[in-house]
Amino acid sequence: MNNYLEKPPHVRDDWTIDQGWSNYTAEEHGTWDILYARLLEVLPNRAAPEFLEGLKALDLGRGGIPEFEKMSDELEVLTGWRVVAVPGLVPDEVFFEHLANRRFPAGNFIRKRDQLDYIQEPDVFHDVFGHVPMLTNPVFADYMEAYGKGGLRSLEHASLKNLASLYWYTVEFGLIRTDEGLRIYGAGIVSSTSESKFSLEDASPNRIGFDLERLMRTDYRIDDFQQTYFVIDSYDQLFRATVDTDFAPLYAKMNGKFDLKPADSLEGDEVISKGTQAYANHGGRFAA
Ligand code: PHE
Ligand code: FE
Repeated sequence: MNNYLEKPPHVRDDWTIDQGWSNYTAEEHGTWDILYARLLEVLPNRAAPEFLEGLKALDLGRGGIPEFEKMSDELEVLTGWRVVAVPGLVPDEVFFEHLANRRFPAGNFIRKRDQLDYIQEPDVFHDVFGHVPMLTNPVFADYMEAYGKGGLRSLEHASLKNLASLYWYTVEFGLIRTDEGLRIYGAGIVSSTSESKFSLEDASPNRIGFDLERLMRTDYRIDDFQQTYFVIDSYDQLFRATVDTDFAPLYAKMNGKFDLKPADSLEGDEVISKGTQAYANHGGRFAA
């Protein structure tokens, strides 16, 4: 999220652009197919059933980068959401405004072949493969709209950081408990083969039960695997806990700051697994 972006001239006032689907090269469509195939090897029995159902409902593996207009027509029938193309990151207010109106802004460019495993800025693969399947789930779809509305409100409280951590630890890096064990619903995880395995199977990270206030006090990693994952019991729990809580008093208390570091453990945590933090302590992605 960012406030200091300057709008390029070809970008509309709401920061949308044409996806330019006919401009993608065969190599770019092929990049989508490679990433898709790699993830389908790891996601069964790791991704949440709702995510896998969404992938199937929208047939995102039909080959190549999806055409946003067609995909949106199908998604809109299911939950009223559409996907709009943007050049990359957009200002916070614009981002929230889109979500509040059930439009998901997705970057239209795709990563290069030498960035298959890691890119810093979200591309069309992360945005569409990662985020759009969950938008087919009615409760999650409502949560995303509520988040957008909450975001617009948070701008009056200068508490964006705390609200951003809610997005981070749920929409991007959330895990959910199922009868078959923990499953992934966060877009940042499901769009990464390595973090899909790490988040569920590695001994390093903490996995702790969702607690709204605790979560919003916690800083997060933007350049490496998370040191803590928060686990929800259901999308309903997430929706109710956030929509039924007035964030204004929380914002006042937290004052736009994090008092907890990504790996901190707290007395009151519902610990699902206590991480060794070995991965992060050995330098993480940057380890020799
Ligand atoms: N209830 C939050 C508020 O009072 C709004 C919100 C809902 C934020 C859902 C995030 C997710 O601001
Ligand atoms: Fe994302």
